Amino acid sequence: MEFNINNICCIGAGFVGGPTMAVIADNCPGIQINVVDINTERIKRWNDEDLSKLPIYEKGLESIIKKCRGKNLHFSNKIEENLKVADMIFISVNTPTKIKGLGAGKASDLKWIEASTRQIAKNAKDNVIVVEKSTLPVRTADTVKKILNSQSEKNSRINYKRNFYVLSNPEFLAEGTAIENLQNPDRVLIGGDNEEAINALRKIYKKWIDNKKILQTNLWSSELSKLTANAFLAQRISSINSLTALCESTGADIKEVVMAIGMDTRIGSRFLEPGPGFGGSCFKKDILNLIYICDYYGLKEVSSYWQKVLELNSWQKSRISNLIVDKLFGTLSGKKICILGFAFKANTNDTRESPAIDICNSLLEEGANLSIYDPRVSLKQIAKDLNEDNTIDAKIGLDTGKWTYEESIFSAANEADAIVILTEWNEFKNMDWKKISIIMRRPSWVFDTRLISDLEDNNLFGINIWKIGYGI
Ligand code: NAD
Ligand code: UGA
Repeated sequence: MEFNINNICCIGAGFVGGPTMAVIADNCPGIQINVVDINTERIKRWNDEDLSKLPIYEKGLESIIKKCRGKNLHFSNKIEENLKVADMIFISVNTPTKIKGLGAGKASDLKWIEASTRQIAKNAKDNVIVVEKSTLPVRTADTVKKILNSQSEKNSRINYKRNFYVLSNPEFLAEGTAIENLQNPDRVLIGGDNEEAINALRKIYKKWIDNKKILQTNLWSSELSKLTANAFLAQRISSINSLTALCESTGADIKEVVMAIGMDTRIGSRFLEPGPGFGGSCFKKDILNLIYICDYYGLKEVSSYWQKVLELNSWQKSRISNLIVDKLFGTLSGKKICILGFAFKANTNDTRESPAIDICNSLLEEGANLSIYDPRVSLKQIAKDLNEDNTIDAKIGLDTGKWTYEESIFSAANEADAIVILTEWNEFKNMDWKKISIIMRRPSWVFDTRLISDLEDNNLFGINIWKIGYGI
């Protein structure tokens, strides 16, 4: 069977679906691409004339949208209509952790995958290639195939039988560098059991990616590799974060340790930045998913091994809030703490699973007044992430356990007892310490959980500094 791909439909216009389809459209002008979503507000924003209103900010995305939108890239809520004409369909919907029912708290909630698959089964034409782009538990392709084939059999009794070809093609992009990652990926992974279908997808990627970087595996290896990649990345962070604590106790310096081990080419230097713990929408959910699958197959030792990566991550957050309390004489009641950075990493306004959420909540519980500044995260988002009842828009007064949203570093630091740097934004690297030391209360503390501040230990400004993984 030879496939001719002239029309692609992608279900899900989110962080992955939008940028991925934009990059395909840019590199394959001969293919018409329709990105569809049930979320009308999101689609409206993808179609906004004002490109600053796009639902996602990624460097390089605006210029691709400007070039391709309305030509071979279209965003719409017309799901059925676009499924009917597609030669290839990507499923790029959300797969969060289940919050209730069997497997709650661990297993992936596949209800959006199932709904999309049923829509495909109902509307797609014959010989369509269905590509799993979402991150999925290993063996989900089985379920997808079953749903597609059962509808196909039902149709065959009434009408005609259709063939579907299922591929797994997980996405490895990181937020903030999505376009760069899509344009020049380390590898593209295609899992499947039909050579022609795999080649049809390969042909698309080959338009801009070296064929040697396009890996072919069976379906299950592809699905599992995505979970494994995220688990390994997260494990590196937990490993280095576990050693920050040991450095602090022994006088070793984590930066020097990272340099020393990173020069070993077997270990490599990337993804060894110590910090307040990993956040983001996927690491935790994907490891929980891996844990659930291991338990399902009775592999208790394997699941508890990965469980530790998550436990260490939680511990890192709580040890940071505990030591802030400790350094500030055991009480935060009535004290003002300035929080610099709320996003889960720099260059994004995404706060999903941000370590700032847990750390701020612990400090609030201790009675601190937080003044929060992040260059990209909105007041609305912070209010959603923290308890909205804690918001006060008046100046910090005698009330305890409240927070305010600030528009600048200086208004956040004014009268503060401590500054806590939680996100590695560039503007936190070189701050005007002289000015800050004047406006802070004494004794003043800076807690640098990202190791980015240029404030020296014995600084002239009389500010006490604590740096993660830095032994004293
Ligand atoms: P997202 O929440 O930003 O977008 C998913 C979109 O799918 C939403 O807009 C939602 O409305 C839409 N949707 C859900 N069900 C639908 C249906 N039946 N019909 C039409 N639209 C529907 O999610 P995301 O961040 O793009 O992630 C998608 C998948 O990719 C997840 O499995 C995630 O784990 C994986 N992933 C995410 C990233 C990342 O950086 N965010 C990176 C790699 C992989
Ligand atoms: C991550 C992976 O890097 C992507 O390959 C994957 O596709 C994606 O998850 C996904 O499946 O969703 P992302 O969550 O966007 O991407 O961001 P990362 O850059 O990986 O950072 C994740 C978290 O780890 C952040 O909180 C970051 O601050 C932290 N981190 C990262 C560190 O603490 N130290 C490091 O050295 C690197």
